[in-house]
Amino acid sequence: MTFLSKTLARVKPSPTVAMNQLAQELKAAGRDVIGLAAGEPDFDTPDNIKTAAVAAIAAGKTKYTAPDGIIELKQAICDKFARENGLTYVPAQVSVSTGGKQVLYNAFMATLNPGDEVLIPAPYWVSYPDMVLLGGGTPVIVPTALETGYKLTPDALEAAITPQTKWFLFNSPSNPTGAGYTWDELRALTDVLMRHPHVWVMTDDMYEHLAYDGFKFFTPAQVEPGLYERTLTCNGVSKAYAMTGWRIGYAAGPEPLIAAMRKVQSQSTTNPCTISQWAAVEALNGPQDFLATRCAAFSERRDLVVGMLNDAQGITCPTPEGAFYVYPSVAGCLGKTSAAGILIDSDQAFATALLDETGVAVVFGAAFGLSPNFRISYATSTEALTEACTRIQTFCAGLSG
Ligand SMILES: Cc1ncc(COP(=O)(O)O)c(C=O)c1O
Repeated sequence: MTFLSKTLARVKPSPTVAMNQLAQELKAAGRDVIGLAAGEPDFDTPDNIKTAAVAAIAAGKTKYTAPDGIIELKQAICDKFARENGLTYVPAQVSVSTGGKQVLYNAFMATLNPGDEVLIPAPYWVSYPDMVLLGGGTPVIVPTALETGYKLTPDALEAAITPQTKWFLFNSPSNPTGAGYTWDELRALTDVLMRHPHVWVMTDDMYEHLAYDGFKFFTPAQVEPGLYERTLTCNGVSKAYAMTGWRIGYAAGPEPLIAAMRKVQSQSTTNPCTISQWAAVEALNGPQDFLATRCAAFSERRDLVVGMLNDAQGITCPTPEGAFYVYPSVAGCLGKTSAAGILIDSDQAFATALLDETGVAVVFGAAFGLSPNFRISYATSTEALTEACTRIQTFCAGLSG
């Protein structure tokens, strides 16, 4: 349709949302579907956070706020960065948005010019390349490999940097692989970045609190203080506090960048939901002990899924450090034919046949820029995961050729 913008024509709709929708439609039509495509915790928002929101409504805190957040939330975010990440920020260096997604979007809108490149390690969260395109920049995809646990190597980063590189977009623990970078792995990357002072770092730390087996989370500006002046540290309450629907994300970085992001926000959504901001103050300042209990549950589910998937013929699944995803390779299934006669010639064919023949909904790897794989979200019950993995094993055992 010629009426629509040329920029939009370059952008794809989110494939994870599409897969969820398909699974829900099949379910509504009476099919026995197990959805493992959703990217949100199955746990509820903790009660103290809900109570804080109700109290905010009762107190009439229901009007517009400053575009990039109330001072109480900005201060809570500064305290969080100091307490958990050893990073010193003042409220003027903090921006609060409608979800982590809008934080990243504002940053790209505020900084990208035609020709600017953004380095994105693959597999990546589906929205990254499209947000760069919407901002008018060029996504440059840097592949990783199963052998390195889908983590970017310093050599690959070095080779991808050009004079046009504006941002390096970093995400640990990762969506879709769950891969988390250790201090040393991160140090090797920050050493490369220190040699290229024109490259800024956008770090998406959304899964910081979802890490297992004693994995210690670090963020780039903490590992290399020399990057502080050119790093935007992004985070949010969606995943750790099970607050996906409340829509609060935040970032901290150099004041001129934060001011530019404020300008974008003030001319688009004005301010993030006032009530959700008060809820987020409680999330960040309130008790944090529930996180350990939830991580213990996630880590048990991860072990269950990784074990059962590695027992499926043709599937190889590394054990990730965090988030609530696994990203198994289906290289061993390619070229085979399913029990219903479908040729598995790609991860998309694998995921589609799996859904058609067994009712298990996963997202194919091509959506995340690295094939042949699929992503499972294990943020669901042990019973559902056991049943889904049993069906995957049966599906794989039924492949022939
Ligand atoms: C890596 C990553 N960053 C950011 C987000 C966006 O989070 P929010 O729901 O707060 O917009 C997501 C959500 O799926 C994500 O996986």
